[in-house]
Amino acid sequence: MTKIICISTSPRKKGNTMLAMEEMAKTIQENGGESEIYSLAGKTIASCRACNACNKTGKCAIDDGVNEMAEIIKNADGMIIGAPVYFGTARGDCMNFLQRLGMINLSNQRFLDGKVGGPIAVARRGGHTATLSEMLMFFFINGMIVPGAKYWNMGFGRLPGEVAEDIEGVENFKSFAANVLKVAKQMKK
Ligand SMILES: Cc1cc2nc3c(=O)[nH]c(=O)nc-3n(C[C@H](O)[C@H](O)[C@H](O)COP(=O)(O)O)c2cc1C
Repeated sequence: MTKIICISTSPRKKGNTMLAMEEMAKTIQENGGESEIYSLAGKTIASCRACNACNKTGKCAIDDGVNEMAEIIKNADGMIIGAPVYFGTARGDCMNFLQRLGMINLSNQRFLDGKVGGPIAVARRGGHTATLSEMLMFFFINGMIVPGAKYWNMGFGRLPGEVAEDIEGVENFKSFAANVLKVAKQMKK
């Protein structure tokens, strides 16, 4: 079965990014795929230390869960990652995660190459597109395939759960998830 990993990088366990991930994971299952949801809530993801240990060992020297997530992603066909917008850009832990995952990828025969996925962003009012652009840099340099959707992958909401009221945003998240699965299925053929 085609498996897509959905990751919320919000510190809120049940925040808006997680709500979006749940909707997308459900859509993937409804369309005949397999999905697993992960969250960075409760974790502190450090920034890359440029120690280059991964070059020699294939693993990150920092023991905070990124190596384990890299292994999970390696065994999947795609990855959707969501960030809350903080001061117009992605939450720091999200970019720390992506940058270290990128380094692990480079020291492991570029396992992300040809996997499908993309970013989504959630904010109260502004900064979504800059956040999406920032996160897309990771997907494109790592040989990943990013499908489009009906709109840019953004949702509006401040308090936990509020993004559910952004009907168009949630519908777009679902269409993005469906497209990720569709392309990932094609890539497996
Ligand atoms: C430190 C911080 C900075 C924020 N910066 C922005 C911002 O630049 N633009 C915006 O619209 N919302 C901003 N917000 C609001 C969050 O993006 C919003 O509450 C979002 O729904 C949080 O997602 P979550 O529930 O998944 O954590 C900020 C929130 C925090 C805590």
